[in-house]
Order: sequence, then structure tokens, then C-alpha cells
Amino acid sequence: MLEPGLTYQLLRNLTSPVVAITSERNGKENGMISDAAVRASIVPSVPRVSVYIHKFNYSHDMIFETGRFAMHLLHTKQFDVVRRLGFVSGRDRNKLEGLPHHRGVLGVPVLDECFAHFECRIVNVMDTGSSTLFLGDVVAVGPGAAAGADARGELLTAAYFRANMPAEWRVEYEAKLQEAQQVAAEMSRTIKPVVWKKN
Ligand SMILES: Cc1cc2nc3c(=O)[nH]c(=O)nc-3n(C[C@H](O)[C@H](O)[C@H](O)COP(=O)(O)O)c2cc1C
Repeated sequence: MLEPGLTYQLLRNLTSPVVAITSERNGKENGMISDAAVRASIVPSVPRVSVYIHKFNYSHDMIFETGRFAMHLLHTKQFDVVRRLGFVSGRDRNKLEGLPHHRGVLGVPVLDECFAHFECRIVNVMDTGSSTLFLGDVVAVGPGAAAGADARGELLTAAYFRANMPAEWRVEYEAKLQEAQQVAAEMSRTIKPVVWKKN
């Protein structure tokens, strides 16, 4: 028998470091946060990553339609970036305004400050009902800004973020998570086959 609460808590051990995912469509830039990103290839000459993005997030369609995104590993002292990109939708505001960034080789926004960034071109997708798993070829990388990197701390893991986020954020974070879980619950059972044609 599965006990959903226990199962969910155990599965939380399988979350990834906290990453910022940026995108661009028709001149409009956006960014979001994910803790469901992993390396998806062991071949140095074929570097790949994958990430699950919920369909109800604004970033989803921007990424699906353009076939590209940038993934950023963050430092432990970049909680401000997690709040800025992960707590509100880009439908409501330009979240990258005031956050130093530049356009990368694929034309996606690349954050000037991060632990490392990977620009990715999507090579395949899988529908999960509530989200899409994007598989991306890494076409450009960079470490974050060298100056002051030590001062920005270590790699930001999901466990570190959850344990150390300011108390006043927690209520908002839990509420947003619960809302996402409810919507995802309704969508999760209907999985459609998708053929990725763009390249
Ligand atoms: C720590 C953390 C982890 C998150 N992980 C994911 C994730 O794996 N997939 C996802 O679709 N959304 C995830 N989110 C939620 C999105 O970042 C959030 O809904 C964001 O506001 C979406 O922005 P957008 O609508 O501009 O795309 C996470 C948020 C936080 C704070």
C-alpha cells in the first residue's frame, strides 16, 4: 500500500539542485525555477540535460514553441533569484528586469551571476500529462561570473533551499506548491504521445 504523504516525502530526496530556466519568444524574456533537472548523457561529446516543466507555467509554452532554453545552476546566496523567478509568473511581470543578463548564442537570456549555465537546444520531449520532460543538447556553457564567486557560496541544492528559506517565504512557497499539486493531479492521468520534430 502506498501512503501518499510518506511517498512524497521520500521522493523529495530525488529532487535536483535548484536551477533557473530562462527562455525567449518574440523578444519577450522569461525565467522560472525548477528542482527537477538532471544530466541526461554520460558522453562528453554529446552533453545533454533534461528538465520537467509544468504545462501551466508560462515558461512551458515559450520553451516548447521555441525549442530552446538556458539552465543555470545557482549559488547558495542566490535565494533572491529563486524568489524572483519561482514565486510569480512571467505572465504578470517581466521577471528578468533588473536581473543582470545577456543574450547567449541561442538568443536566450543568460544570467550574468550563477554557478554555471548551459544553453540548450531541445532534441526530444515526453508528455507526463501535467508537465513536459524536455531533453536538451547543451550547445554552450559557462561558469558564473568569476569575480566574487566565493562570496556567492556553494551550489544551491533543493534541500538547502527548503531548509534555509526565510520563514516569511515558506507560507507562500507551500501555498503555491499545493495549488500546483492540485492542478497537476487533474492533468497527470492523461498522457499523450508527442513527436518532437523541431531541430
Ligand atoms: C524550489 C522551486 C522548485 C520548483 N520546481 C519546479 C519544477 O521542477 N517544474 C516546474 O514546472 N515548476 C517548478 N517550480 C515552480 C515555477 O518556478 C513557478 O511556478 C514559476 O512561477 C513559473 O514561472 P512562469 O509562469 O513565468 O514560467 C519551482 C519553484 C520553486 C521555488
